[in-house]
Amino acid sequence: MRVALGVSGGIAAYKAAELARLLMEDGHSVQCVLTSSAQEFIRPLTFAALTGRKVITDLFHASSGEDVLASAVEHIAVAQENDVLLVAPATAGILAKFAHGLADDFLSTLYLAFEGPVVVAPAMNTAMWGHAATQTNLAMLAARGHVVVDPGVGHLACGTVGPGRLAEPAIIAAAIQAIAHPLRDLAGEVCLITAGPTQEPLDPVRYLTNRSSGKMGYALASAAHARGARVILVSGPVDLPAPEGVERVRVRTAQEMRDAVMQRLPESTIIIKAAAVADFQLEEVPRQKVKKTSARFSLELVPTPDILAEVGSIRGERLLVGFAAETQNLEQEARRKLESKRCDMVVANLVGGEGVGFESDDNEVLLVTRRNGSIAVPRASKLAVSHRILEECLKLRLVGQPA
Ligand code: CTP
Repeated sequence: MRVALGVSGGIAAYKAAELARLLMEDGHSVQCVLTSSAQEFIRPLTFAALTGRKVITDLFHASSGEDVLASAVEHIAVAQENDVLLVAPATAGILAKFAHGLADDFLSTLYLAFEGPVVVAPAMNTAMWGHAATQTNLAMLAARGHVVVDPGVGHLACGTVGPGRLAEPAIIAAAIQAIAHPLRDLAGEVCLITAGPTQEPLDPVRYLTNRSSGKMGYALASAAHARGARVILVSGPVDLPAPEGVERVRVRTAQEMRDAVMQRLPESTIIIKAAAVADFQLEEVPRQKVKKTSARFSLELVPTPDILAEVGSIRGERLLVGFAAETQNLEQEARRKLESKRCDMVVANLVGGEGVGFESDDNEVLLVTRRNGSIAVPRASKLAVSHRILEECLKLRLVGQPA
């Protein structure tokens, strides 16, 4: 593949030289683009020597005649000539420019002109990485279908320890290989995935809900789409953009989620119920706002429809995956749900701890299967965990599961 490798300014810029070498070894051609701040950390000559090509260092670098015109449209030419745009390290600044379409140097202008796949490997100080602005920008880029190679955790140049360290060049090169040779092992499958919480109204202004952010279900939808599946994402109310290429059906209550799932079940081949469905609802919702009339107030709730159990009873040959968020007895509870809801696999995770589970970007799960025992998946990004879940689904497909 022809890779345009953007290098933005940060201590990790020197690692981009190793990355360029690995990409060349993998058989790609590499066109380097250095921002002006990257050039404070590493010389263009290093990249020119490694790639055997002229390195682009600014937007208007020629000073006379035809060269001026050529340099003025060079970002368009580079955009058209390359198959993938990779930025490593990507600073908080370049991520912000990409997210908001600010084109004021060669790399950010190239980004806007580029129509192919984009991979960014961020590297920055831990506080900058954790800042809401950076995370919002990254979420915008991910929603555009760009691949984000998450930074590792470690000692940073600023003296702190935490996330922000550029991913190892081999991992970034592997992300480019995944684009060059995409996995299409879910081609032909239709994945019906539920995500997020549900809201059960108590009156016209109040509702019961839970802490689910929807991130796990959305990551599963992105991963399944990337592996070639057609994806229907039935989503409770969450604050996430629909993943690229995924059909999203928005619902609010457990009953609406049940109806949407039942409607789309006939065309589905794999059902993954990642949603945190509310277990109880009001039987009849008052039409008017409930007034404060006494010091105490009781609600009588009735169970919501158990969507997973209903799907389990009519699933046929479809592969069925449930989730179990538990605060204790993880494996035991997951196995109970596996049996009672007739699933092929239950993805179990402990909730209530720090850093994983609800609202977090990471997860650590136990895959409890009917035939292949229980598999512990160590803490990783929800996207990485999603790929692990889908790999296990494919294995279960191969061994064959009785309904
Ligand atoms: N689920 C569902 N419909 C419900 C409740 C849960 O489809 N009304 C699904 C969830 O999407 C999840 C699985 O069932 O895939 C397990 O959810 P959980 O709330 O852990 O299970 P419950 O059956 O509610 O068990 P308990 O409350 O006893 O833990």
